[in-house]
Amino acid sequence: MNDMARTWMRRIALGLPVVTLPFISGFGGCYGCPETTDTFPLSGDGAVVIMTDAGPAASCEDACGELIRRGSISGSLISCQFVGDPATAVECRYDPYCPGGRRPTGLQVASREPSSAVGGWLAELAAVEAASVPAFEHVARELTDHGAPGRLVSGARRSALEEVRHARAIAGLARRYGAEPSAARHTLTPTRTLEEVARDNAVEGCAREAFGALLAARQSAAATDPAVARVFGAIARDEARHALLSYAIWDWTTERLDARAVRRLDDARREELGALQRRHEEDPEGALATALGLPSAERSQDMIAQLV
Ligand SMILES: [Fe+2]
Ligand SMILES: [Fe+2]
Repeated sequence: MNDMARTWMRRIALGLPVVTLPFISGFGGCYGCPETTDTFPLSGDGAVVIMTDAGPAASCEDACGELIRRGSISGSLISCQFVGDPATAVECRYDPYCPGGRRPTGLQVASREPSSAVGGWLAELAAVEAASVPAFEHVARELTDHGAPGRLVSGARRSALEEVRHARAIAGLARRYGAEPSAARHTLTPTRTLEEVARDNAVEGCAREAFGALLAARQSAAATDPAVARVFGAIARDEARHALLSYAIWDWTTERLDARAVRRLDDARREELGALQRRHEEDPEGALATALGLPSAERSQDMIAQLV
């Protein structure tokens, strides 16, 4: 885990002026969250690979939905089709989740036709923020079950309450731009093993929430819509605290896992940062860059690189 990232998060959490962070200040460029199409084989060695709770996937929606539930796809489904006759693969077209935030297991966000690019981006973020509430409540339960210190459990509970506030504030911004927050659902899971809990924290907290904090700080400095700047300024401080909580959970869990498990966690964290870099390879357009203050591809890459 990189010490510089901890320092950035402490500074943002304290509300220090973000213009002092070189990779956040300056003019915004564009933001891109391109639609993605991935193809997955349906069978291997004669065995059906994509099984749902009800048996082999009967429709491409079932197959892609199952892949989202498993975490093989991180995004909201736009369309799908089977490939081949008889079908040998399924093609899933989806919007990758770009906004930062802690996702619960199997999060699926319903696609809507947004009234504007800004409204659509905010509507999806509102759904991810709302989904962060059960995600943190689950973290608190799992930490309790694994005997974690009270400060980590109470930190997760407090974070859940802060995510309620984020979801309301972002939903309010989305409505100002004529968009209703997207609906989302997730899967309830029993308490996982300590390594699974630590892996989830490494990906969702140490990678995604840390990036979410940097992105929100950048938006608070660059958004031309003052309401957006104000909301993201408050969110940046909270998300930086969530990232610091993730680092504390990382420290506690890695002390209890062997060296090979810790290497697997670090690989998962780096993979997620790599995925974030791939999702931010394109510049944003128009009001996404101005009203929302979303950074250029180059600046996004810089921000993510600070966290590796
Ligand atoms: Fe949040
Ligand atoms: Fe958060």
